[in-house]
Amino acid sequence: MNSDLSNRVALVTGASRGLGAAIAVELGRRGARVAVNYFGSADKAGRVVEEIRAAGGEAAAFGADVRDEAQVARLIADVEGRFGLIDVLVLNATGPQPMIKLDDLTWRACLDQLEFFVKSPVLLVKAVMGQMKRRRFGRIINIGSEVFGRGVPEFSNYVSAKGAQHGLTRSWAMELAPWQITVNTVAPGWIPTERHAGDSQESKDAYAAAVPMRRMGLAQEVAATVAFLASDGAGFLTGQNLAVNGGNTLG
Ligand SMILES: NC(=O)c1ccc[n+]([C@@H]2O[C@H](COP(=O)([O-])OP(=O)(O)OC[C@H]3O[C@@H](n4cnc5c(N)ncnc54)[C@H](OP(=O)(O)O)[C@@H]3O)[C@@H](O)[C@H]2O)c1
Repeated sequence: MNSDLSNRVALVTGASRGLGAAIAVELGRRGARVAVNYFGSADKAGRVVEEIRAAGGEAAAFGADVRDEAQVARLIADVEGRFGLIDVLVLNATGPQPMIKLDDLTWRACLDQLEFFVKSPVLLVKAVMGQMKRRRFGRIINIGSEVFGRGVPEFSNYVSAKGAQHGLTRSWAMELAPWQITVNTVAPGWIPTERHAGDSQESKDAYAAAVPMRRMGLAQEVAATVAFLASDGAGFLTGQNLAVNGGNTLG
């Protein structure tokens, strides 16, 4: 096991599948004690925990709706009771992401996305920042998306919320910098997860053909970037948007 995150405690929201699961596994492989948050899929979260333990790591699953203030408070208390104070917070959870034409767009549809990408980060960061400030250490990592850099038609509900999430990164990075707490966004390109099972091979091929590296990314490539940001070596890197998308958007 690589041990660059040993003695660190990490909470990854929405880690029962997809990118969150890959991030949790990678942080565990590097020695962090990992809290695997899930919403509905206790069984899948359990399998992620097993994978981390099988590789010699330490992990446990914690069910909570990260949009709910009381559940977030309980989640943080449960994680800290089990593993100790949280050093690394990865804000990854997402619900359904429907594409909606402007004609059909409603405020409710926008709020559905903002609950994941603004409300939940606000609740979680407020719950951990006190102890991070006291200890003068913290790594907050927002999982954003390349869609904000690209702009995508008929998706403004999601694109605008991802833009707002990066706005949190930018402001919080400056606000928390005096305490040596870093806040960054990792913005993946399209990386097929379970949620994309219904998407056609044609649409995936067309996307990949337009990426400068001519391929889609891997969940492990996002996870490795998150693990780097969580490490001691990234201590002077804050307020940034790291696109993991084969050059599809440029900094
Ligand atoms: N995959 C991509 O192509 C891509 C590209 C750019 C950005 N992203 C971003 O990457 C992140 C992960 O995306 P993904 O594709 O890996 O998603 P995913 O496979 O659909 O997984 C979503 C995760 O969020 C959890 N979740 C859902 N509602 C929740 C709630 N209320 N409270 C706590 N957890 C909840 C799910 O848990 P249960 O299964 O337990 O319900 C699941 O673990 C998102 O922020 C997404 O916007 C993804």
